Amino acid sequence: MIEEVTRLVSERYARAAATGEQMCCPTGYDIDDLKSFIPEEVLKISYGCGTPAGLDTVKPGETVLDIGSGGGIDCFEAARRVGPGGRVVGLDMTDTMLEIARRNASAVAHNLGHSSSNVEFRKGMAEAMPVEDGTIDLVISNCVINLAPDKRKVFREMFRVLRPGGRFTISDIVADQPVPQYLIHDKDKWGDCLSGALTVQEYLTGLTEAGFQGTHQVKSQAWRAIDGIHFVSVTLTGYKLPAVMEPNGIRFATLRGPFSRLVDEQGRLFRRGEAVAIDAKAVCAFRTPAFQDLFILSREPARMTTGDPRFVAIFPEQKPCVWQGHFALLTGPFVEAEDDDHHLYRRGVPLEICSKTLRVLTEEAYRRHFLIINRSQSEVAGSEVACDPQGGCC
Ligand SMILES: C[S@@+](CC[C@H](N)C(=O)[O-])C[C@H]1O[C@@H](n2cnc3c(N)ncnc32)[C@H](O)[C@@H]1O
Repeated sequence: MIEEVTRLVSERYARAAATGEQMCCPTGYDIDDLKSFIPEEVLKISYGCGTPAGLDTVKPGETVLDIGSGGGIDCFEAARRVGPGGRVVGLDMTDTMLEIARRNASAVAHNLGHSSSNVEFRKGMAEAMPVEDGTIDLVISNCVINLAPDKRKVFREMFRVLRPGGRFTISDIVADQPVPQYLIHDKDKWGDCLSGALTVQEYLTGLTEAGFQGTHQVKSQAWRAIDGIHFVSVTLTGYKLPAVMEPNGIRFATLRGPFSRLVDEQGRLFRRGEAVAIDAKAVCAFRTPAFQDLFILSREPARMTTGDPRFVAIFPEQKPCVWQGHFALLTGPFVEAEDDDHHLYRRGVPLEICSKTLRVLTEEAYRRHFLIINRSQSEVAGSEVACDPQGGCC
C-alpha cells in the first residue's frame, strides 16, 4: 500500500506539472506580488493550501527546508525573505517538479538581485530526508504531509533535521473526523489531498509524539465537505526546544485567561489566577509566541483575582441561544481547556457549540485557539433555547 500510494501521488504530480493542471485550493499568497520575481511556469503549478513561507514566519539569514517543494513557490518566497545571507533547501520526490524548480532558480536569484541562487532542490522522500541532523532553522511545507503514507515518520524527520531552538510552520489538509476506508482506498482522492488527511487530533498528537512543543494554529480555512467529512486547510507552528534552558530565575506561571483552566502538553494543570511552579523547559515553552499573553511568568508565586487588569474572562451573553451546526476544535497549544461556561475542550475533538458560545470563541483572545466548522448542510431554522442561569446550555 505504501509504495503504491507514493507511486500514484508522484505520477499524479508529474502529470500535473507537465500539463499545468489546476489543482487543490487557493493558498492566500498575493500572486501579483510573487509575479514580480517568480516566473509564471512556477506559479502555474502552485498546489499548496496555505502560505507557510509568508505570514512573517521566515527571518533573514535563516536556513529553511521546504518539504514537498513542487515547482518551488514557497522556496522562492523563502529565498526572498532569508535574503542573500540565508539558505533554502527544497525537497521533492517527483523529477518533473524538481526540473521545473531547478530551471527557474537562477531567474529568481537574478530578479531578487542575488549574485547567486540561495535555493537548492534535492530529490528525496519526506519520510527519509537527505538532510543532516540539526542543521535547519525552520521547516516549512505546503499541502504535502497529507500525501505521505507514514506521517509519523515525516514528523520524526522534521524533528531530527531541526536545530535545537528551531521551529516548523506547515500548511496542510486535515479532517474533522476519521476519513473512512472507502475514501482512503479511492486512488484519485489521494492526489487531491483528501484520502490521506489525518484528523486534527491525530495530526497534533503526531507532532507532540515526535517531540515538538507549543504546537498551535496560525491560520485555518474550511476547504471542502465530502459525505459529511469536513476538510480544512490549517497552518501550524511548533518548536523543538533547546536542550539547555535559561530560566533566568523564572519559577512560576500564573494563567491570565481567557480559559478558566487548562492542561499543557506535559500534563500540568493551570487554574486562572493561581501560580503553578514550572521547570526550565516550561519557562522556555511559555516564552514562545504560542503562549503569548496567556501567562504571567514570575520569580515568586503571583496570585491574580478578578479585579486585576491582567485577569481575562469572557462570559456568554445572558439571552437564549440557537444551535446552528457549529463545532469547535481546540487546536492547542494545550491538550485540554475550559471556558467560563464550563465547556471542556479536548485538543482536536469537535464539540458542538451554540450561537452564544460561537460568539465567545470568535473573540480575539479565544479565536487563535480554535478551528470552527459548520456541519449543517443548509440553513438551520433553530428555535431559541433558554440556558441554565449557571451557564452550560451546550
Ligand atoms: C500538493 S503538491 C504541493 C507542492 C508545493 N508545496 C506547492 O505548494 O505548490 C505536493 C508535492 O509534494 C511532493 N510529495 C508528495 N509526497 C511526498 C513525499 N512523501 N516525499 C517527498 N515529496 C512528496 C509531490 O511530488 C508534489 O510535488
